[in-house]
Amino acid sequence: MAFDLVFLGGTGDLAWRKLMPAVFQAFRHGALPPDGRVLASSREKLDRAGYCQWLRERFDSLSWDEPFSDEEFARFAELLDFRPLDISKPEAHAELAAWVGERNADTVVIYLAVAPALFSGICTGLGRVGLNDKRVRVVLEKPLGYDLASATAINEAVRAVLSEQQIFRIDHYLGKQSVQNLMALRFGNTLFEPLWRREWIQNVQITIAEDLGVEQRGGYYDRNAGALRDMVQNHMLQLLCMVAMEPPASEDADAVRDEKLKVLRSLKPLAVADVPNQVIRGQYRAGRIAGADVPGYREEEGVAPGSATETFVALRAEIENWRWAGVPFFLRTGKRLAQRTADIVVNFRAVPHPIFASPSGYQNRLVIRLQPEDSIELDLLAKTSNRSKSEQGRLSPVKLNLDFKEAFGSQTIEAYERLLRKVLGGRLDLFVRFDEQQAAWRYVEPILESWANDPDTLRTYNAGTWGPPASSALLARDGAAWPEER
Ligand code: BG6
Repeated sequence: MAFDLVFLGGTGDLAWRKLMPAVFQAFRHGALPPDGRVLASSREKLDRAGYCQWLRERFDSLSWDEPFSDEEFARFAELLDFRPLDISKPEAHAELAAWVGERNADTVVIYLAVAPALFSGICTGLGRVGLNDKRVRVVLEKPLGYDLASATAINEAVRAVLSEQQIFRIDHYLGKQSVQNLMALRFGNTLFEPLWRREWIQNVQITIAEDLGVEQRGGYYDRNAGALRDMVQNHMLQLLCMVAMEPPASEDADAVRDEKLKVLRSLKPLAVADVPNQVIRGQYRAGRIAGADVPGYREEEGVAPGSATETFVALRAEIENWRWAGVPFFLRTGKRLAQRTADIVVNFRAVPHPIFASPSGYQNRLVIRLQPEDSIELDLLAKTSNRSKSEQGRLSPVKLNLDFKEAFGSQTIEAYERLLRKVLGGRLDLFVRFDEQQAAWRYVEPILESWANDPDTLRTYNAGTWGPPASSALLARDGAAWPEER
């Protein structure tokens, strides 16, 4: 299969940090179809050789699990080409079409790693120059819009020239190994399914914590994002869907996406008036992380001095269906938190009648860890084997630990590599359908509305902590606690 993989925004951060390394890894592992070109473009005035050198320098600044040789990079560079294009201009679309038209590839993937404000114009332009035939697949990087109205407008422009089969909306969390394993755990095994419901599960906690701040994206983040738009509307709600969805009839993209959509549509809507009780928002102040002083959010470059943009969100969600009625789903994400970690914790109910002198209120829990390493842990109680009298008869928590590196070797595939392979294979199962995005926007809109009306609900937290104390209080109301507080 001859393919062209086109990256618009080819010199952006995402391109050199994530996308090009992903293509390179797929190339190194023989996972790319044999006859391909990788075409990158941006407004930078570079030629092919200049781009290859530019990329090589950036690759050298990244840390690689498997270091690469000059020869390997040189072979990869043979696939690369670069042309400067200002893709916001109509003439650039014709130039792009001529470039792609230099040969008749079977598959043309056009990856829009550019600002979402350009999506509509680019797609309309692609339609005008005929780059929307059946060979073409377009990948849209998040965020797709700023709210429900802007997301709908972008989607309409995109759908006017492309069919749903040609649109690959990225949520890179769906490409993570542990998310794949969560699907495998739930639907490839019989063990958990009977327990995976309100009768046995007390609550579910999903955390994506970052120790980094807003880095070089302060201006963009402050004006257009915030943690709710950046993480909750997409990554966190997608993870919630993976935990809560019913078993799909097959692995087919629409079978999976239909089930996710049902979860999003079953989320108990938040009334604007309830938001202050159910949703905590915070912003980091200066603090210490890994022994170093770090500035507060308002001191970051590009951030307005009196900014009210949230860098932390914790919320309590409920799913109104027979499986999950009454089970709280706690979601939490933030920047400059105590450590980088992402996990899904499923807390099972305590035994109905404890007969052992065991830690009181003990609950089994299943932890699906996405970061920093992929693993699945099951916490159980077991008899201690300590000889001392006082310890005899006691139970202690132990972990059944599935470490994927140990089980399958160190060759894990990064999310973007997995997703790009899927695009080349034409498989949509790890991509988000627009109706899912719409439902997710509907869910978060009352939160945006409440915050716009009530700026006083913004709390602060010191960098290097787990967020504002109100986040713990949110769980305490249900008798629950975040994993690090247990
Ligand atoms: C992106 C957000 O989607 O995900 C970033 O825009 C965030 O703000 C990133 O840092 C986190 O991704 P990961 O894979 O590093 O957890």
